[in-house]
Amino acid sequence: MILGVGIDIIEVSRIQASHEKFGERFLNRILHPNEIAYCLAHRAPAPFLAARFAAKEAISKAFGTGIGAQLGWRDMEIGRHASGQPFVILHEAGRQLLAARGGQRLQISLSHTQNYAAAVAVLEGQESTSSPPADV
Ligand SMILES: CC(C)(COP(=O)(O)OP(=O)(O)OC[C@H]1O[C@@H](n2cnc3c(N)ncnc32)[C@H](O)[C@@H]1OP(=O)(O)O)[C@@H](O)C(=O)NCCC(=O)NCCS
Repeated sequence: MILGVGIDIIEVSRIQASHEKFGERFLNRILHPNEIAYCLAHRAPAPFLAARFAAKEAISKAFGTGIGAQLGWRDMEIGRHASGQPFVILHEAGRQLLAARGGQRLQISLSHTQNYAAAVAVLEGQESTSSPPADV
């Protein structure tokens, strides 16, 4: 059962400007060490950083909380399977929020160009035990 969906799009230049202005302080406020290492391994990290920023905003929308007291940037982490597919790791308040909502997991999808990064998140609950709807 789908409990929530969230979407976000962001200008890469905005994240690049924050990174250039605040450096590591900005990265550490938003991201976990593995996320930073993955992004900075690219010659042009800004689209990868922006996609993770967008992912966290999208997750916060799927929860319906936005980012703030109930869900902070570092309560969420974007991991990466060997195939390249991203996945969500929740920490602390993120785990508590998932449990409070009766959620099972979050699905995430990212996309980026030189100028924009976007993400979609889906909050999934337990499968419904009721019968599937009849074909129409
Ligand atoms: C909820 C949040 C993620 C929205 O993001 P945003 O970048 O301000 O705005 P976006 O254009 O991406 O999204 C706007 C839409 O989000 C949706 N939205 C707003 N609050 C929401 C909530 N609590 N849950 C789900 N969706 C929400 C609305 O549909 C809104 O569109 P509308 O005003 O036309 O109805 C944002 O309020 C937030 O928490 N941002 C974190 C801000 C922050 O800490 N910035 C510091 C940068 S280092």
